Amino acid sequence: MLSMRDLIEAAPVRLAPMASHTNAPFRQVARECGAGFSTNEEIDAEALLHDSARTARMTATFEGEGPLAMQLLGSSAATLVPAAIRLVEAGAAIIDINMGCPATKAVRKGKGAALMRDVPRTAAILTALRRALDGSGVPLTIKIRGGWDDACLNAIEVARMAEEVGVDAITVHPRTRSQQYAGRAPWDVIADVVRDVRIPVTGNGDVTSLEEARLMMAQTGCAGVMIGRGALGRPWVFDASYPAQAVDAARQYEARVIARHLALIEGSLPPREALAHTKRHLSLYAAGRADASMVRNQIFRADSIEEARAVFEGARALEGVASR
Ligand SMILES: Cc1cc2nc3c(=O)[nH]c(=O)nc-3n(C[C@H](O)[C@H](O)[C@H](O)COP(=O)(O)O)c2cc1C
Repeated sequence: MLSMRDLIEAAPVRLAPMASHTNAPFRQVARECGAGFSTNEEIDAEALLHDSARTARMTATFEGEGPLAMQLLGSSAATLVPAAIRLVEAGAAIIDINMGCPATKAVRKGKGAALMRDVPRTAAILTALRRALDGSGVPLTIKIRGGWDDACLNAIEVARMAEEVGVDAITVHPRTRSQQYAGRAPWDVIADVVRDVRIPVTGNGDVTSLEEARLMMAQTGCAGVMIGRGALGRPWVFDASYPAQAVDAARQYEARVIARHLALIEGSLPPREALAHTKRHLSLYAAGRADASMVRNQIFRADSIEEARAVFEGARALEGVASR
């Protein structure tokens, strides 16, 4: 079986899964900038079992991607087990279960962060998944939060249970479900989990640079770090050689990465999806500029990839990407 510790330690700073963002083109630019193996965006187990065309799109990899963790959102072994098997057939090297999604529509159905609230039910689900994956040798991992709310801070209890039932690695985003994304992520929760289990722990939350990733590893002892929002519009966050201090060199570097990203989007996605992703990512690349909201509005009004690109490049030529 793939050693999760070896895989994580080989390139410890990775791109976090982000729905509607971390498809193959974005994972590829992040990887080319130096990110370790990726986790794709969450896939709803029930939807996956009913819609094979969507599955094919969501499980697309890029050539040379190597091991990809595919993440599932679900509430029962009855859907998660067959969905996991389908993902393994589609090429998943690792199955990750999303136990952190705070969205009301997910938790109301017992999915995402709701799994943190019912540890015996979740233990039964993970046990069934572990058993189903044993034959394929595919590791099972989970991504958790610090707990449900301040009255239910049970990351350690969940991590212990997961290790006991045979989960191979854990990612901890230490905010609770009720915190959503508010306040600072309490990294000490990551350190508590690291101290309590032997399986590798990846820390996550508010990391926006390689220096902060190293700090998180030093402060918590985690084996790896996932960067989410800090990589949106800034995939070069993974590159130690990004010339942050040299303005012209940084602008040239960014222009190269953005052009590569857009070419990957256009080359690999169907036209409607390519336009949506071009707009989404160009507006993220424009973030931080003084005129960002105006540029974003113009990008979203564009009718074609060429038009969206012309708006972005025109704005960039006028001002350059503001210091971020
Ligand atoms: C737009 C967006 C989509 C996300 N989608 C997922 C997802 O599909 N699966 C998941 O486990 N976490 C998801 N997350 C949570 C991130 O993976 C990460 O845990 C969180 O953003 C905290 O890390 P950060 O401070 O580095 O952004 C998402 C976050 C954002 C901002």
